[in-house]
Amino acid sequence: MGDALNEIMTRRRDRLIVVSNRLPFAFRRDAGGRLRAEPGSGGLVTALLPVLRHRGGMWIGWPGTCEASPALDSELASVGEGAGYALKGVPLSPEEVRNFYEGFSNEIIWPLFHDLQLLCNFDPAYWRTYRDVNRKYARAVHEAAVPGDFIWVHDYHLMAVAAELRRLGSDFRTGFFLHIPFPSPDIYLKLPWRMALIEALLQFDLIGFQTARDRRNFLQCVRALVRNVEVEGRGQVVQVAACGRSVRVGNFPISIDFNSFMRQAAAPAVSARARELHALLPRRKLILGIDRLDYTKGIPLRLQAFHDVLTRYPELRERISLIQVVVPSREDIPEYRGLKTEIEQLVGKINGSFVDPGGWVPVWYVYRSLAQLDLLAYYRAADIALVTPLKDGMNLVAKEYCACSIEEDCVLILSEFAGAAEQLGKGALPVNPNDIEGVADTIHRAFHMGETERRKRMRGMRRSIRDQDVFWWVDSFLRAAITKDLRAFPQLESCAATESVDYHLSF
Ligand code: F6P
Repeated sequence: MGDALNEIMTRRRDRLIVVSNRLPFAFRRDAGGRLRAEPGSGGLVTALLPVLRHRGGMWIGWPGTCEASPALDSELASVGEGAGYALKGVPLSPEEVRNFYEGFSNEIIWPLFHDLQLLCNFDPAYWRTYRDVNRKYARAVHEAAVPGDFIWVHDYHLMAVAAELRRLGSDFRTGFFLHIPFPSPDIYLKLPWRMALIEALLQFDLIGFQTARDRRNFLQCVRALVRNVEVEGRGQVVQVAACGRSVRVGNFPISIDFNSFMRQAAAPAVSARARELHALLPRRKLILGIDRLDYTKGIPLRLQAFHDVLTRYPELRERISLIQVVVPSREDIPEYRGLKTEIEQLVGKINGSFVDPGGWVPVWYVYRSLAQLDLLAYYRAADIALVTPLKDGMNLVAKEYCACSIEEDCVLILSEFAGAAEQLGKGALPVNPNDIEGVADTIHRAFHMGETERRKRMRGMRRSIRDQDVFWWVDSFLRAAITKDLRAFPQLESCAATESVDYHLSF
């Protein structure tokens, strides 16, 4: 990673400034009133940590509390010192959290960009607050950054930060990475603020998407809305001239720290916990689903497919169990509450129909956040992973499962509509998550797949994730920001098929 970084930051004091909705620590007061910092988890922090530590850097984001106080500032400073990079909090009022985070981000952009336009609540007040809050983040960058710094903004909450920075007169080098999908013009054009948002995105110097399909959708939307667009190049990164600016646009599939997952999964404590799981659920294959509680994850349809497989293939009864872990999420947004009830009713229905009292339970349902040891043990224990989102930016569960499958003797069933399918499509068993009987048939196929085929498929997927891990992702994004010659970025092999046609499945 050193090379791209050293090139992008030519002077010793140049830094990377990461901007995301949340800081990598959430600050809360405990029962005794003391401020506590809980570290966030996830690949982004893992990937950026070495960069921020090595070059010195800063992370700007919401500290997870609406409190703004000198005590919070000093806590941010001391936690940042311990972490090896500076933390700068952007305080949000409860109304801003409501209209910017819950409202515009999660009641408009989240459903729309996942093709679920009927779930959108196009409240004009949400857009106004979104612009105001993006201005707030831009102001925080403007105060903290110095010439030479590279500003890397993350995700759909902050798509207007570069535009707001320009209004403040800043001309820092900026990059933006969208972690969720970008929809096709048919969907995007429904957005009342479609023009303002596209123009805002075009103010970044580099825009990164997860997949070639997202990038193509974005370029089609730009062409639909903006006159005289020119696109130069055909590789992983192209140069786009639009709205009087020249912007780079590329696809950079995010990944995980493969080696770390593999090492942790091999730990004796994880192996012991995985064996315990098999002892608790003996003489059967374990199928695993792990998701945040989110309507994009396709959990009810997946449960219906599991019901269908037990109905149509009775010989599988007592020979498989589904472990479905649901991690609580966005509990203050109305659309998420009903989903929990729906899932629990379906689990009740399946268990009520097929349970063998005192013996086999078809669905093991877990509703909580998992400790890392338990997560790894579930990955190690599962013979089949069922990753069936209706639509997903990438889906790192699929990649984590493969990395933890150190025996390489298991099967990944993967939705065609997860970003990960572009990369893992050859090794995984593809499914259309809306096709209940198709998913059921695929579970049946996975159950009966021979060992040689299981190993061959899993080995190929693991190799690809190891070669393009999260450090590769950081490096390729930063290199794309600085490279002089875009021919150094030929299209990723896994994406070639999605590039040339209007609509093409990766399989
Ligand atoms: O997938 C997009 C994402 O924002 C992730 O970065 C994050 O882990 C997840 O959704 C949940 O986000 P939040 O709890 O901040 O809404």
